[in-house]
Amino acid sequence: MSGTHSVDNDGGRRRAGRTLSRRQLLRTGMWGSLAVWATGSVAGGVSMFWPRGVTGFGGKVVAGKVSDFKVGQVTKVTEGKCYLVRLEQGFLALYWKCPHLGCTVPWSPPEDPGRFHCPCHGSIFDINGQKLAGPTPRSMDIMAMEIVDGKVIVDTGKITERPNFSPSEITPA
Ligand code: FES
Repeated sequence: MSGTHSVDNDGGRRRAGRTLSRRQLLRTGMWGSLAVWATGSVAGGVSMFWPRGVTGFGGKVVAGKVSDFKVGQVTKVTEGKCYLVRLEQGFLALYWKCPHLGCTVPWSPPEDPGRFHCPCHGSIFDINGQKLAGPTPRSMDIMAMEIVDGKVIVDTGKITERPNFSPSEITPA
């Protein structure tokens, strides 16, 4: 009888010990999961709002080296959705979206060489993006740009509307 009692007591203690361990394990697991989730959420939030080196359209795009472009050359920069115009005094970056209704304006199409000519409603612009004809309400928009270590960098996130071309918009090179 006392043997049985002793076995029960031991068994009970062992069971209680096991239950406690499971509880501790569950609690540890729960807090651990919460900590992992919270860390992930905070890291995700920080990375979402922390400004990083944005590239491609909406960020800064390297169009090439200054020496890559000849005076009078108009280069399509697909990544930046713009044209880089090399003028004698420097560079202009023209947003290729037509100010009228947003069509992409091609440079120097066969029917109008040496000019930008929108295929949608016929707006025409010169090499500086200055409006010449058609329904466009203004000249082609320009993008901010800079020259760093001999490289031409277009900031496609900074687009400026302008009624007419002004030589002051040229980035000297
Ligand atoms: S969208 Fe270019 S002229 Fe209308």
